[in-house]
Amino acid sequence: APPPEAPGRQNLSGAAAGEALIGAAGFPPHGDTGSVEGAPQPTDNGFTPKCEIVGKDALSALARASSKQCQQEIANVVCLHQAGNLMPKAVPRHCQLAGKMSPGIQWDELRAQQPADGPPVRIAYMLVVHGRAIRQLKRLLKAVYHAQHFFYIHVDKRSNYLHREVVELARQYDNVRVTPWRMVTIWGGASLLRMYLRSMRDLLEVPGWAWDFFINLSATDYPTRTNEELVTFLSKNRDKNFLKSHGRDNSRFIKKQGLDRLFHECDSHMWRLGERQIPAGIVVDGGSDWFVLTRSFVEYVVYTDDPLVAQLRQFYTYTLLPAESLVDNNLRVTNWNRRLGCKCQYKHIVDWCGCSPNDFKPQDFLRLQQVSRPTFFARKFESTVNQEVLEILDFHLYGSYPPGTPALKAYWENTYDVADGPSGLSDVMLTAYTAFARLSLRHAATATPPLASPLCRFEPRGLPSSVHLYFYDDHFQGYLVTQAVQPSAQGPAETLEMWLMPQGSLKLLGRSDQASRLQSLEVGTEWDPKERLFRNFGGLLGPLDEPVAVQRWARGPNLTATVVWIDPTYVVATSYDVTVDADTEVTQYKPPLSRPLRPGAWTVRLLQFWEPLGETRFLVLPLTFNRKLPLRKDDASWLHAGPPHNEYMEQSFQGLSGILNLPQPEPAEEAARRHAELTGPALEAWTDGELSGFWSVAGLCAMGPSSCPGLELCRLTSWSSVSPDPKSELGPVKADGRLR
Ligand code: UDX
Repeated sequence: APPPEAPGRQNLSGAAAGEALIGAAGFPPHGDTGSVEGAPQPTDNGFTPKCEIVGKDALSALARASSKQCQQEIANVVCLHQAGNLMPKAVPRHCQLAGKMSPGIQWDELRAQQPADGPPVRIAYMLVVHGRAIRQLKRLLKAVYHAQHFFYIHVDKRSNYLHREVVELARQYDNVRVTPWRMVTIWGGASLLRMYLRSMRDLLEVPGWAWDFFINLSATDYPTRTNEELVTFLSKNRDKNFLKSHGRDNSRFIKKQGLDRLFHECDSHMWRLGERQIPAGIVVDGGSDWFVLTRSFVEYVVYTDDPLVAQLRQFYTYTLLPAESLVDNNLRVTNWNRRLGCKCQYKHIVDWCGCSPNDFKPQDFLRLQQVSRPTFFARKFESTVNQEVLEILDFHLYGSYPPGTPALKAYWENTYDVADGPSGLSDVMLTAYTAFARLSLRHAATATPPLASPLCRFEPRGLPSSVHLYFYDDHFQGYLVTQAVQPSAQGPAETLEMWLMPQGSLKLLGRSDQASRLQSLEVGTEWDPKERLFRNFGGLLGPLDEPVAVQRWARGPNLTATVVWIDPTYVVATSYDVTVDADTEVTQYKPPLSRPLRPGAWTVRLLQFWEPLGETRFLVLPLTFNRKLPLRKDDASWLHAGPPHNEYMEQSFQGLSGILNLPQPEPAEEAARRHAELTGPALEAWTDGELSGFWSVAGLCAMGPSSCPGLELCRLTSWSSVSPDPKSELGPVKADGRLR
């Protein structure tokens, strides 16, 4: 049975409350606190709260908030709240209805096909997006697009690459627009609600946009039924609003959502500031911020001067409260798996343990279309995690693409674009991408014909202009680096794209007689416990990173394994045990190693009773840049010298080197000492050498005509980011009003 749809934003409603406080109360001047006994003292940042702040949460937030402005806002909100002037204690409610939602509408496949009376409804789609997955967004737009509908796109203010791409896309269609303003819409933040209300107002006011329904979608949503099915269904339910009720014990819901807590958003964080009462006169409900609303309800929410709504705004800048006929179903399927999705993964953004739904995989396909209740969208989908399920769904809805259509199994996602500016590049990325370009150009100059002609010698010009992650058949295939180059012989500058492919380094050593449970052993950064993968897909990391080692296990007898990390000079940096129960699938640990980590090839060994089960290597990249400038000698001598006193931990594990059979360290130590002195071309040579032990050049192509006769045009090169990708290309509107 599918897991019940559960409220995921354990903190979003609570979060919205913080917003309400600001929206309604603002920061009225409080001038009369100076002479009160025990008056608050100025903080380190030099601002003085207007009252004595006592609550534990508020004090914690004040201590953690770093900007003066944010501290001041927090203090103002808390002082108003302490004085009882922030929240309405009761809201006026004159509605005669009991406030019960309609029971869920049943889905009947046959009845659903009968045509509706009246003109087909027109939909305003609100796309709320962030990140860099423009190709999946285009695919989504292609699937839901109809010339009769309207599309309004908000891109998180921090996602500039995506914004540039979306603006470009919108220029091609009259019915697609991008919000001319942008907000930093943090996960679970009050800003999301503010953004929705502002967008709703905009949508009501675009001349000629005569929409009947408002539907919000994120870039990780996908339709599970066709546009025709959706339009028919909504045309039969013109007066209904579709929202999700938690459908459980209300007091439990309030607690889990943090609705009884006061939050405030500033510095891109939701600060929890203490407790509060829910105003009398309303029954809160909720469970999802994905909804389908009628135009008249949106008009009511945006324009009403009803004191109920005005005061609710103080509570949570409006929540979508039952106003007319609401149906307890938001027409969505959400892939909740609380065991994986509720790991407090947003605690750096919100002071709460929020949950997120999981990504769908092909094995979930049957759940995507519910048989008994109407559902039209599902979430979440991520092409970097699994694209096959999107393909299955998309083909199911709109038919497969013709045989021979290219790139159906390929996925590209930009990870750096020159227009991002220098802030888009870390020193590790800068080092790796420039080294990748050098490795590729050396490959072009020295590979077997048709390359390797004097005409194929190039020098890089400046920094790479863009870098893509390349996936094929749901496997990471490497980085695609685009770089301007100058032919060494003669001729005009050219632009090349270069494919760098990772070389596997895992060795499984389990003896056949003990049928090892170990499936894989990986080291990386940005471990995502929900999807159980490294978001740093290429695993590039430098001396200042904090890598995590992850083991995947098949079922089998309980065991305890020892994990040993060995640095490039055979220092045993750490050793620890992992307990693997019969049904453990993944174990993971980030040892608290002192940094800088010594650059070079590290080894992680997994042993049972000191017999090796498996081994992997990972590279700590020697950095050729520090703070975006070429590394200087004094920086190198600490950044590349390993941790102070050669100690990764207080405890020494060097006693293990015998049992681990490690070689004599002196030659490696001598090499490391020399390496730590390097700068300039010698440093680049070391970096390139280390990288080439982990990455190989898998291809090169030219963006335009090239002086090198062996180079194919990227447009015609199937792995290139500029080769055709019909599934994500929008093209002209077809005669039936659709794009797909
Ligand atoms: C879940 C639930 O599905 C949702 O109902 C709840 O409100 C939040 O938690 P989740 O997958 O965790 O959703 O959130 P995500 O899709 O990452 O973000 C929600 C929305 O906020 C999306 O539209 C997303 O694009 C936007 N967002 C998120 C941003 O604009 N910027 C961010 O940094 C994060």
